[in-house]
Amino acid sequence: MPESILVTARLPAGALQILRDAGEVHVAEAPLDPDALREQARGRSAIVCLLTDRIDADLLDAAGSSLRIVANVAVGFDNIDRDAARERGVIVTNTSGVLTEAVAQFTWALLLTVTRRVAEGDRLVRRGAWTGWAFDLLPGMELTGKLLGIVGAGRIGRAVAVKAPAFGMRVVFATRSAKEQVDGHPVISLDELLVSADVVSLHLPLTPDTRHLINRRTLARMRRSAFLINTSRGALVDEDALIWALEERLIAGAALDVYANEPDVPPGLLALEHVVLAPHIGSATRETRAAMAELAARNVAAVLQGQPPFTPV
Ligand code: DGY
Repeated sequence: MPESILVTARLPAGALQILRDAGEVHVAEAPLDPDALREQARGRSAIVCLLTDRIDADLLDAAGSSLRIVANVAVGFDNIDRDAARERGVIVTNTSGVLTEAVAQFTWALLLTVTRRVAEGDRLVRRGAWTGWAFDLLPGMELTGKLLGIVGAGRIGRAVAVKAPAFGMRVVFATRSAKEQVDGHPVISLDELLVSADVVSLHLPLTPDTRHLINRRTLARMRRSAFLINTSRGALVDEDALIWALEERLIAGAALDVYANEPDVPPGLLALEHVVLAPHIGSATRETRAAMAELAARNVAAVLQGQPPFTPV
């Protein structure tokens, strides 16, 4: 019997070829709701899924004992119940490494957009409200000499830091490790970072410990002139608290690529001019999406051939 592989979304041809060489591939034609996903998972050896697919104990039980690997086409894996997978002997993999640059570059895109008010300017021009060059039109924050506070010192946070000198920014990290420095930049406490940084950028996974790391209390610690950037996971931020902080002008602005209940964006955020809202496209370059899909496929092929996966979580 050939190995049976479920792929929950259409992936680039290169990735599908790797999977076809490893078994019989079933590609979902359209996004699968939880019932359909459970139904489709039955009897599979491998599932290649997206961050929008919830892989919980029920799903793993529905798949049954044939399931050996769940390969997430994402670096984040908060959509997967890892404990349930471990208990059932199912390997979980992610796509760490291949999307680092794409997300780091997009973080800078958001940082520049919000601090230089690019999206506000774009809206002004499109609605025909621009009346010509003006000395006081949309003044932003200059980056030179400012402090970038990076929360989390994983691959992406560090890749964001590498680009900071190009804009004359100094960098500090807040990370739970006991290190005193990350790549030559000081490590300080989260509280110290919040009170001192001009830009706070979040680069850490969503776990029970990090949910609502940014909340009323932590937002109130930030400088009134500071900006918050989130390209990690929406639930790191208490969105109600963020709306409150923005409305009260406790911070200068925010740029978000991720939301707690995607694709729902709280109306309170939509109403605010000093927020940049992107539709979770941090890793969305053609090159990176192909690399993510291929890495997930290579993880599946390795496991089905009895080899260790390349990027287990
Ligand atoms: C990830 O890989 O976790 C990203 O959020 C996808 O863009």
